[in-house]
Amino acid sequence: MPGYRVGILGATGLVGERVLSILEERRFPVRELRLWGSERSAGRRVTFAGEALAVTVPEAAAFADLDVVFGAAGNDQSAAWTPVARAAGALVVDKASLFRMQPDVPLVVPEVNPEALPPSPRGALVASPNCSTIPVVMALRALSRLGTVERVQVATYQAVSGSGRDALEEFEAQETALARGAPAEARVYPSPIARNVLAHCDAFGPDGFTREETKLVQESRKILARPDLRLAATAVRVPVRVGHSEALAVEFDRPVEVEAALDALAAFPGLAVVPDPPAGAVPTPRDVEGRDDVLVGRVRRDPSTPDGRGLMLWLVSDNLRKGAALNAVQIAERMLVGTTVAP
Ligand SMILES: NC(=O)c1ccc[n+]([C@@H]2O[C@H](COP(=O)([O-])OP(=O)(O)OC[C@H]3O[C@@H](n4cnc5c(N)ncnc54)[C@H](OP(=O)(O)O)[C@@H]3O)[C@@H](O)[C@H]2O)c1
Repeated sequence: MPGYRVGILGATGLVGERVLSILEERRFPVRELRLWGSERSAGRRVTFAGEALAVTVPEAAAFADLDVVFGAAGNDQSAAWTPVARAAGALVVDKASLFRMQPDVPLVVPEVNPEALPPSPRGALVASPNCSTIPVVMALRALSRLGTVERVQVATYQAVSGSGRDALEEFEAQETALARGAPAEARVYPSPIARNVLAHCDAFGPDGFTREETKLVQESRKILARPDLRLAATAVRVPVRVGHSEALAVEFDRPVEVEAALDALAAFPGLAVVPDPPAGAVPTPRDVEGRDDVLVGRVRRDPSTPDGRGLMLWLVSDNLRKGAALNAVQIAERMLVGTTVAP
């Protein structure tokens, strides 16, 4: 049978499940699939293209003869199995944060910096960025047609699924508890997320910024090849299941027009501009769940920049798809199939 031998590390997680469904939707040529999870899901069966496949615990011998391994099981598992997969000749497309900022590891959004991809897939490693970074770099690359972006301020409104299945289950349990008048218990986050907003998505660094905020800044600079880019972020967790929203204020080196920005954003692959009401509607996480495009709305002049050098806009994306699984599959398509495989 023609096609590729594919392994998914973390196939039972929120991202791993999306990798599977996206491979199927986009008719990625799969010849063989090997699915790995932790002890708790060993023996579980997962359906792909009508066939029930068993999930197993990863072991070194199982990485032989694979063409591509998707890493979607967190930093520890990526650290353990990436060298094994690469030594066996597989391309590793990794979703964890572990390798992203290593200088010799390409960090890629295929619409933004495909030139960073390695020349050959054999034994290569490509990191896929954080789910809040991907929409930001897509919008900034599109807008760079108008002039040099000098400064960016971002506030994120991030869905609970961005923290994985345990967080999502805890959120659902909290909602159920609150609905019947019981207290909401928190283990994954420092406070309950149900009926709440948490302005700390991750651990704090010594500079007062959280790791999530620092990742967004450092990864954006690397992907855009703009180490000088002035960028600051506040990352906020909100009680939404799926779909990250982001408010951006972007300052250019020259005056810019809203109409030109809308044209540049609309022309960029993977972005879909939604007109303001009454012609359209402000994009919401509910609109974007299950969609591939990053939705862009509320594009307007920033009146706090005196000579029209600033724009403000609103981005919404499915963090599990373009923010994670879809971006990884697109990388594998470019590296193995040679182009993006359309559904
Ligand atoms: N969620 C997002 O929006 C998002 C976005 C970008 C990047 N990422 C990254 O993608 C990765 C996966 O995230 P997720 O949200 O899918 O997490 P998740 O829902 O918690 O899934 C974690 C996966 O890892 C597996 N796993 C855990 N420990 C393991 C072990 N010892 N051996 C083998 N497999 C093990 C789990 O298997 P079991 O089911 O058996 O426990 C599960 O399949 C993380 O690195 C995350 O940072 C996530």
